[in-house]
Amino acid sequence: MYYPDSVIDEVRSRNDIVSVIGQYVALKRAGSGYVGLCPFHSEKTPSFSVTPSRQTYKCYGCQKGGNVFTFMMEHENVSFPEAVRMLAERVGYELPKQQESAYGAELRTKKERMLALYKEAAEYYYRMLRTEAGKFGMEYLTGRRLTAETMRQFGLGYSDGKLYAAVKDRYDDPFLRESGLFTFRENGGAGDKFFNRVMFPIFDNRGKVIAFGGRVMGDAKPKYLNSPETLVFNKSRNLYHLNEARKSRRGYLILCEGYMDVISLTQAGFDNAVATLGTALTDQQAQLLSRYTKDVVLTYDSDGAGQTAINRAIPILYQAGIRARVVDMTPYKDPDEFIKDLGAEEYEKRIRDARSSYRFEMEYLQKQFGDIGSTDNTDGANAFLDAAARWMVRYEDELERETYMKAFCKDYNVSYQAFVRKVNHIGADEAKRRAAEAARDQQEAARAAEVLDGNGEVQETTAGRAPKRDDILNTQDYLVTLIGSRPRARKVIRKYLTIEDFTGNVYREVVRRCYEYAENDPVDVAALVSRFETAEEQRLVAEMLSDEMAVKAGDVSKAVEDAVMKIHKRRTEERIEKAKADNDVKEASRLIRESRKETESLRMRLRMETY
Ligand code: UTP
Ligand code: MN
Repeated sequence: MYYPDSVIDEVRSRNDIVSVIGQYVALKRAGSGYVGLCPFHSEKTPSFSVTPSRQTYKCYGCQKGGNVFTFMMEHENVSFPEAVRMLAERVGYELPKQQESAYGAELRTKKERMLALYKEAAEYYYRMLRTEAGKFGMEYLTGRRLTAETMRQFGLGYSDGKLYAAVKDRYDDPFLRESGLFTFRENGGAGDKFFNRVMFPIFDNRGKVIAFGGRVMGDAKPKYLNSPETLVFNKSRNLYHLNEARKSRRGYLILCEGYMDVISLTQAGFDNAVATLGTALTDQQAQLLSRYTKDVVLTYDSDGAGQTAINRAIPILYQAGIRARVVDMTPYKDPDEFIKDLGAEEYEKRIRDARSSYRFEMEYLQKQFGDIGSTDNTDGANAFLDAAARWMVRYEDELERETYMKAFCKDYNVSYQAFVRKVNHIGADEAKRRAAEAARDQQEAARAAEVLDGNGEVQETTAGRAPKRDDILNTQDYLVTLIGSRPRARKVIRKYLTIEDFTGNVYREVVRRCYEYAENDPVDVAALVSRFETAEEQRLVAEMLSDEMAVKAGDVSKAVEDAVMKIHKRRTEERIEKAKADNDVKEASRLIRESRKETESLRMRLRMETY
């Protein structure tokens, strides 16, 4: 969706940034602005500030900043046009219709069609489970003690392998291929990906079906088959059952490993269970959880793999400001089995007794050093103390750290003074190491900047830092969007950047195809996206071509200049690095000398371009 600048400005001016952010963050007046606890990272003292006069926000802790649109994008995890829509809706401003670019419309219709197909598939599987064809599926689920009501609530289904036949007349094959619900054979035949499995639909927060997990009814492998990532499904940004669990009044969320765990827990009255989607917990999922609660109870499998996964999940949750607790289910493997045998009340008790993440991590750590109480294992005991001290260092907040140190010394009968000394010692080492690292980065970046900025002065915009990799990718996304949407910008960029100046095969392929168009012809973006084979590639291409910020950016010439300079700078750096690595000192110094002149003349030439 593309909105003209006037509309964007209107939406922005009607949404005062203080009142928008105030809905998510408790803001306090400070001077001419407001401050609060940053919603993007965990902190105890406010470093997040909002400036009404500029209508911007900035966090001095994590460096995130922007305007009311970027805030919504970041906080609600939505694209630019979606942020515009949400804010327009918030103030009852009616957005103009028909402003969509052909490409935006294409993409949106495609997403809608994808959702429609998934909905249809879910209804189909649902129906099949309740017919003769789905008899074994029904027996299986009943055997796992699920009630008809639970099966309805979770939309469970059964795949009889005939979905393709049911939809093929209404959707084209490339689209069906992209949906990931079907398999296409080399010789042209096609069929269902899911066959003879019980089906678990996965819903997004709006309650739309975006994916499936399918379980075999016996011991065959793989036990669960999941639909792949598509235009509408990103498995690291969604959690199973979150759309319902977030409405729970229990005040905390239960995080499990499996679909069946969530379902059993819900049936047993725990309406607040969610699960990851067959992968380890991601930062994005932790952020997502933190929007609803700061209290998460982990109930992963009791086996080694499950315990390791908990140990990984705890710091990820902590980063998102969540305190994790860990349920002990021994002697059972998972909540499903536990509840089947001991019931909901027992489980409730286990939740009440859940260990703090501190206790869990210490016990987990301790196991790695053998029996630390044994007099034969003093080395192990000392190593454990070191490891525990290193663990404490992770907490920068003094009071918080002190609490843990006290608990630890009491638990393990260690002298508090001696332990504090050890922690401080390790902390100081750690701080020194970090400072040295930062200084080295800084120096290197400053030197590179000096070399590459041409005039020997460190540029304000780069603040003495070489562009980070993500920054390069963002820049590439930006350029690719322009190349794909503005023929005149394409013409300019093409003069300065070759296909090889872009990194990554997909980027290069997109640029190559766009460069093939005649001078003033618009790129047929929809056609271009479909040139790519896999759904994953198509999604990537669609994303890189739809940097909406780029399309609406007012001052294209300045932005193109910056972007081209950045790419150029990276290329030169790479060449210099390579020469250095090859020990070619002469070549390296030549490159450094040349690059000064080149950078200046490049900038001059770019400034004379018209768009
Ligand atoms: P588990 O094997 O612990 O599943 O995998 P479970 O929930 O206990 O399954 P049941 O009780 O035997 O039915 C946990 C999760 O890991 C993913 C699924 O998301 C599953 O829910 N998984 C597991 C897969 O994606 N593929 C597999 O082959 C196995
Ligand atoms: Mn299980």
